[in-house]
Amino acid sequence: MSVNQFIQDHKERFLNELLDLLRIPSVSADPKFKDEVFRAANFVKESLIKAGADTAEICETAGYPIVYGEKIIDPDLPTVLVYGHYDVQPADPYELWDSPPFEPVIKKTKTHPEGAIFARGSADDKGQFYMHVKAFEAMMGAGELPCNVKFMIEGEEEVGSDNLDKFVIENKEKLKSDVILISDTHMISMQDPSITVGLRGMAYMEVEVTGSNRDLHSGTYGGAVANPINVLCSMIASMKDENEHITIPGFYEKVQELTAEQRGRLNEAPFDLEEYKSKLDINEVHGEKGYTTIERVGIRPTLDVNGIWGGYTGEGAKTVLPSKAYAKISMRLVPDQDWKEIAKLFEDHFKSIAPASVKVKVKSHHGGAPAVVSDSSIGYQAAEAAMEETFGKRPIPTREGGSIPIVALFQKELGSDPILFGFGLDTDALHSPNEHYGVQNYFIGIETIAAFFRHFRKLSEA
Ligand code: BES
Ligand code: MN
Ligand code: MN
Repeated sequence: MSVNQFIQDHKERFLNELLDLLRIPSVSADPKFKDEVFRAANFVKESLIKAGADTAEICETAGYPIVYGEKIIDPDLPTVLVYGHYDVQPADPYELWDSPPFEPVIKKTKTHPEGAIFARGSADDKGQFYMHVKAFEAMMGAGELPCNVKFMIEGEEEVGSDNLDKFVIENKEKLKSDVILISDTHMISMQDPSITVGLRGMAYMEVEVTGSNRDLHSGTYGGAVANPINVLCSMIASMKDENEHITIPGFYEKVQELTAEQRGRLNEAPFDLEEYKSKLDINEVHGEKGYTTIERVGIRPTLDVNGIWGGYTGEGAKTVLPSKAYAKISMRLVPDQDWKEIAKLFEDHFKSIAPASVKVKVKSHHGGAPAVVSDSSIGYQAAEAAMEETFGKRPIPTREGGSIPIVALFQKELGSDPILFGFGLDTDALHSPNEHYGVQNYFIGIETIAAFFRHFRKLSEA
């Protein structure tokens, strides 16, 4: 039986098993879900065993475990290492979901006429890494596994992968492979398959601005004592100029500028600005002057407030001059910016622009390095050939705005450029209410991954 026949014959089960995984609320950010995160790890381990792995183990870390599994058919054959994450983003705000986030339902949409699975983690990343488990199962079931395979599925990606570096550094031999596959990104569309070759890095900061030592009556003191919320807002506003250029001194120092030719090629990717605007219901896009939308997210760094709070936000009106104001601010970075350097530049700058009327505290949360991977390695060629086979069209290389810090870690520690083999769409509502993943994307992903294994084996032997 062929691999594709096996997939066809087990379609319903392959889908139902993913739905079972999606029912586990493995939210790594919220300690309330601790047991569920562990339960998801176990589910992954069991799935690997059932799919035919020789071994699958739960590797404890200081945080949530990493699930490792492998099938070595012949040490002389090439080995594929699959990375993914079983943890998910918090589902808040729950009231904005049309159906409960951990009770997956399949519904037809305009972009997914054949149905999409609505659940937190469906696209990011359960639905995507699970394609690899099922592709492996199908290759085993058909008796056609062309390469050795190793799985490393972690549970802390959405909170910065704090314990992964150590695991990778301490287990280089175990993780040894000829190519690394990661399905945790988008493609342009079902009609325009693409392979991601660039991801942005990140430096995530939190600031606290304190005015008076207690909340004050805004009439008695207003106008005479600094309001930390007002101050914080002007400080934030000053960090970008009228061209949306970031004003932190030294911020752009290490930013790699692309040649006109490279930029031209990047902008050849199909992109419809009107459709982009209409899908987001915005009248105009907004960003750094002199760059297209594709460039603004793909090759340019940015700074954004993710949340800002302080003072009175309850019902009705309360007159108060608050004592404190807070904001969470992230910066998306591009090669060769170093997140620790950028975090320091931010901190120094933020302190330097604070007026004497307030005190400020700056804290650096997690960060991660940007990455650009090869678009000509054997792995990339195999991915290209596999997509061409299943989509009937040669995929194009793209650069995406999101971050997967592990990519740079793999490059540095394992000396390998991962293949960013994502099958989601940018409209899948990652991290948002009503996250979904196309049923068709799931199955074409499984077939394409199996095709990758065939092509990779063939190209490795050439
Ligand atoms: N899968 C995403 C990253 C992603 C999304 C890459 C879309 C490309 C396109 C990943 O799970 C994620 O959310 N990463 C975080 C980074 C992190 C350090 C918490 C992100 O990008 O915000
Ligand atoms: Mn992800
Ligand atoms: Mn994510």
